[in-house]
Amino acid sequence: MSYSCKKELLVLVGPMGAGKSTIGKILAQELGYEFLDSDKVIEERCGADIPWIFDVEGEAGFRDREAVVIKDLSMKKKTVLATGGGAMMRQENRDYITRTGYVIYLNTSVEQQFHRTSKDKNRPLLQGENDNAFDVLSNLMEVRDPLYRDVADLVIDTDRKNLKLVVARILQDVCDAG
Ligand code: S3P
Repeated sequence: MSYSCKKELLVLVGPMGAGKSTIGKILAQELGYEFLDSDKVIEERCGADIPWIFDVEGEAGFRDREAVVIKDLSMKKKTVLATGGGAMMRQENRDYITRTGYVIYLNTSVEQQFHRTSKDKNRPLLQGENDNAFDVLSNLMEVRDPLYRDVADLVIDTDRKNLKLVVARILQDVCDAG
């Protein structure tokens, strides 16, 4: 089946553990689009993983790298782009993706985020002395939820939902089957 979407760049935003990568891959496959994950592109360009970048360059260094990647990837066509959970903190990133992309906010409860990220070692903001990862996720959501909503053309709740159904919902709302 071929699809024609509202824009040729679909951007997934939302917190860690929202399912951006999983949903993005399925969505891209359905559409015959390329799937890109801004975190993976940062790692490829830097030749190091995200925990290393946070360790050596701090969060600020990571955010600078992220801004360059978001700017570049916002020019892509026939692409589904998953963005890191903190990428919407910077106004310039919000501007770039809203200029060129159709933005989908995958909204998820803190409980679900906590559950989906609990075994993960690749997210520096949830590591270290944090047995308080739940509080960290909670505090981040308080600050970031309005920013995700601000950029979103569509908000979808991914809690307790089969991810394939989320993809079907996105296709129905955003793309016409030809
Ligand atoms: C971050 C989320 C991560 C990654 C980095 C920082 C955040 O991406 O960019 O660890 O600030 O929420 P995911 O949302 O893909 O986990």
